Amino acid sequence: MTELDPKAYQFATLAIHSHQAPDPETGAVITPIYQTSTFEQQDAGKHKGYDYSRSGNPTRSALEGCLADLEGGHHALCFASGLGALTTLSMALFKPGDHILCGDDVYGGTYRFFDKVFRPYGIDVEFVDFTRPDLVRQRVRPNTKALYLETPTNPLLKLVDIEAMVAIAKSHKLITILDNTFASPYFQRGLALGVDIILHSTTKYIGGHSDVVGGALILKDDTHAQALRFHQNSLGATPDPFASWLTLRGLKTLALRMKAHEANALSLAQFMEKHPGVESVIYPGLPSHPQYDLAKRQMLGFGGMIAVRVKGGLDEARTFMKSLKLFTLAESLGGVESLVEHPALMTHASIEPQVRNAIGITDNLVRMSVGIEDAEDLKRDVAQALDKVLALAKV
Ligand SMILES: Cc1ncc(COP(=O)(O)O)c(C=O)c1O
Repeated sequence: MTELDPKAYQFATLAIHSHQAPDPETGAVITPIYQTSTFEQQDAGKHKGYDYSRSGNPTRSALEGCLADLEGGHHALCFASGLGALTTLSMALFKPGDHILCGDDVYGGTYRFFDKVFRPYGIDVEFVDFTRPDLVRQRVRPNTKALYLETPTNPLLKLVDIEAMVAIAKSHKLITILDNTFASPYFQRGLALGVDIILHSTTKYIGGHSDVVGGALILKDDTHAQALRFHQNSLGATPDPFASWLTLRGLKTLALRMKAHEANALSLAQFMEKHPGVESVIYPGLPSHPQYDLAKRQMLGFGGMIAVRVKGGLDEARTFMKSLKLFTLAESLGGVESLVEHPALMTHASIEPQVRNAIGITDNLVRMSVGIEDAEDLKRDVAQALDKVLALAKV
């Protein structure tokens, strides 16, 4: 089987076949795990394309090639984690004295890296409400180099208007970077909307089974790709062959899984919105979401993440989470199994309480990663847990 022309095939086909032709040596249908740190050279400096697994490995190449096709990019680079992708990207593209504008509702670890680790190196990162393009435009300075956006955001599922950000970036010659972890390439293709670089925590929907940590960068531009490739090798935050293989195996079913995540999330969001134990539900696929129209315009689907404010405060949120039987209390998201977490105490605990509250990460906010279990089972589980919240409120 020769390499597929990505323009001639649909997403689900590419996820299974792109850069994953049967092994020409043995006929193995599945890309082997090239569990080797080094490769024989035919002569000093002469090899078959691989010399050392930090620099490159055939299993990782298959994953990188497939991801590039799925995001509509020309290059993809994989990392040992999403934060490995972020740190490598940051060191490759920015230097002391640069200014970066970043959304104020990004993943807590992204905030922590920019605020606590990168800033002391002399890079000024400013956090701005990216749902307000007017504000973002005002904050651009002569030394601004990039807009760093995440949409839908974590955990509040706010949407950033990607095309509006790209327009601002283009008029000031800035690089746009989009963390596409929540939507996955199945539901959102930033490169087609003019974004320069896509970042993923492949730990989430792309891997899809909560069994491997990884990250990826996908882009079209050759010059940036070269700088990133150099830093990927120089910094060494690369995934090992088995992690690459697990991620590639998960990726094969991304289309199927995303459809199931979305169907389950929509049905749960609609159900919870009517429940008296709930103050509000945040889900981009609900007409009550303030950016429902934008979601329909820029996304190809609404995804599997829900944020819910239960009636009450921390006690009620704890009761809700503890009463759920099918949702495991755990950080992370995007696996086949449903998870629940408390952003203020868990994923976003590294953000100072006053900042957290100001951006809406309140004590009654619970984030749900809706899995692909049976929809009615999930609904029954959520119903009984919300009934316990109501009972507590009456005490
Ligand atoms: C939106 C988003 N971006 C980036 C990351 C960081 O990825 P990783 O945990 O793979 O380093 C996460 C992790 O939760 C995330 O949710």
